[in-house]
Amino acid sequence: MHPSYFEHLQQVQQQSAAALEACGFDGLLIGSGHLHPRFLDDNYYPFRANPHFLRWLPFLSEHPHCWLLWRPGRTPVLYYHAPDDFWHLTPSVPDDWWTTAFEIRPYSAPAELHRALQPQAGLAVISEQPPAVNGVDWPHNPQALLNRLHFQRAVKTDWELHCLRQANVTAVKGHTAAEQLFHEGASEYRIHQGYLQAIEHNERDMPYDNIVALNEHAAVLHYQFQQRQAPQQSRTLLLDAGAVHLGYAADITRTFTAGGTPFAELVAALDRAQRQLLGEVKAGACFIELHRRMHHLLAGILQEHGLVNASAESIVERGISRTFFPHGLGHLLGLQVHDVGGWQQDGEGALGEPPAEHPFLRLTRELQPGFVITIEPGLYFIPSLLKKLRDSEAGADVNWQAIGQLQPWGGIRIEDNVAVTDDGCENFTRDAFAAQQAADQARAL
Ligand code: GLY
Ligand code: MN
Ligand code: MN
Repeated sequence: MHPSYFEHLQQVQQQSAAALEACGFDGLLIGSGHLHPRFLDDNYYPFRANPHFLRWLPFLSEHPHCWLLWRPGRTPVLYYHAPDDFWHLTPSVPDDWWTTAFEIRPYSAPAELHRALQPQAGLAVISEQPPAVNGVDWPHNPQALLNRLHFQRAVKTDWELHCLRQANVTAVKGHTAAEQLFHEGASEYRIHQGYLQAIEHNERDMPYDNIVALNEHAAVLHYQFQQRQAPQQSRTLLLDAGAVHLGYAADITRTFTAGGTPFAELVAALDRAQRQLLGEVKAGACFIELHRRMHHLLAGILQEHGLVNASAESIVERGISRTFFPHGLGHLLGLQVHDVGGWQQDGEGALGEPPAEHPFLRLTRELQPGFVITIEPGLYFIPSLLKKLRDSEAGADVNWQAIGQLQPWGGIRIEDNVAVTDDGCENFTRDAFAAQQAADQARAL
């Protein structure tokens, strides 16, 4: 049992009450979601619960058709779907430690739910589809309310920080197993399976599809396949893989390679630069500036390693570093891997879009204590972007021979999950790797 879950629930209720009042609603009705059938098929896509529902009830991530009804000052009511169904297992009505915070009313047929909900007035509904209750016209996903709730979600409660920390501990077990498989020459498919086994997740438990990229595939930012056949030589493993703890996601990338090559030196240099940047993460920092700063650090690497013959300033100014690092520095992390509200500047929903030259930056907010974010710089050799650079004026300053020699290694990404504090950050990912290494060493003694 996590004692601070109840505190978390209190905080969610306080925030929700303020959001409801500001928007003129008396209560909230949140649906867990429903199953989506495949086209022309009677099978369903894996279920994903509504994150608004999970924020209250993370224990019910596999439970479609549940509804949470809440009015400020009252006990939240959970309409729990327990259908009379001989095809599937009807989940038993929960009686775990957390249920003391709820009034649980099981229902079987939709008509029962609708009868219970019909007399309710003044509700705002947050769900994929509104419940089909006759004669009611509740506002469905009112944007003003969503804006407030999304804005609040960036600052995590202590219990949410605990879940995110735990998700990192789990994911690191997978990364450690995957590294070993990579050094044994396993295929992408086997590495993926080894990862899932090490963290005891099913594929449908994962917060996002694992990116298991060997060699040149590491140059594909969201590489989506897993080859069954191992390559003749395994030079690089770029592994972007997470885990979930009670609904909260880890999102970790490591790039593994054997030592003693120019590519291994680049991995070490990017790791140093990433750690240097982490030293600048703290409350009050502007994330757009951190992203720009990372481009300067990366440009220094490109220059020092003889890949671009120009000063770091000129490499950034002329946009050369964007060829090698085309995505954003990071994003909010929580119930969703790319957690909502990254561009939102206030509870009313004012947006701060990223600068035109960095359109993929998902976070433009000033950092606050309690934000959990990723810091994930990359350095890739992406053929289509390299071609554009080669065809441009700046191409004359690039050492194409050195680049050509590095292309078989694909690229590098190093991604940590950190919680912002007043004067720095807590690095969930590096802490989890350090603990894992200490445990492995203790076992080896
Ligand atoms: N795994 C997706 C990302 O790093 O944002
Ligand atoms: Mn990420
Ligand atoms: Mn990632």
